[in-house]
Amino acid sequence: MEEPRTVTLTTDRLVLRAPQESDIDAVFAACQDAEIQRWTVVPSPYRREDAEYFVRDLAAHGWRTGENRIWCVFEHGSDVLVGTQGLVLRHGDPGSAEVGWWATKEFRGRGYTVEAARAVARHGLVELGLRRLEWQAYVGNEGSRAVAEKVGYRFEGTLRSYAEQRGAFHDAWVASLLASDLPDLPDLPDLRP
Ligand SMILES: CC(C)(COP(=O)(O)OP(=O)(O)OC[C@H]1O[C@@H](n2cnc3c(N)ncnc32)[C@H](O)[C@@H]1OP(=O)(O)O)[C@@H](O)C(=O)NCCC(=O)NCCS
Repeated sequence: MEEPRTVTLTTDRLVLRAPQESDIDAVFAACQDAEIQRWTVVPSPYRREDAEYFVRDLAAHGWRTGENRIWCVFEHGSDVLVGTQGLVLRHGDPGSAEVGWWATKEFRGRGYTVEAARAVARHGLVELGLRRLEWQAYVGNEGSRAVAEKVGYRFEGTLRSYAEQRGAFHDAWVASLLASDLPDLPDLPDLRP
């Protein structure tokens, strides 16, 4: 079988790399957090098999196709998981992808999610040449919205009964970051003509 072509991203403080077998315990532990279960599509209750599926199936298959890019996030020189990031390319619109993230409870409030999300945005818009990145969150997820807005995502509105979570549909906030917004991102070249 073809090996996944994974991509590692680095920032000032962080390394984002594809999930591997040794991350399963940390993903399992992190996803016991009530906030992650409340605001994301992870199963609830979250079992060890769910972390195994995340690493061995979802992320491995996602990297094999390149269509679901999932990263585990670490501080430089550490193997302690501080969060995850994801970039899912859209079928039917190859220029567009949806982003997602969570932070390990103990590592919140340090700006790590913003820093990692900026690297993913650069990867999507610059390296992959995507046109539009979309962020969605269930209405009321102020933390995720704060992250998205700090990265530069522009709020677009609320979609009613839109985002499915374990069989239930929630109203969702939507924001986007376009390639043409890139000059708003720090450390990026000004790509305007
Ligand atoms: C939302 C979440 C990812 C934020 O992670 P984090 O690592 O704490 O975020 P950062 O440290 O990068 O914070 C970035 C900014 O968001 C703000 N922020 C974080 N959580 C917040 C909250 N609950 N309410 C309001 N603002 C919040 C921070 O204050 C910070 O702004 P500042 O630099 O001006 O202080 C984290 O709380 C989490 O994992 N939540 C559960 C899972 C989730 O909601 N995932 C997203 C699904 S769409």
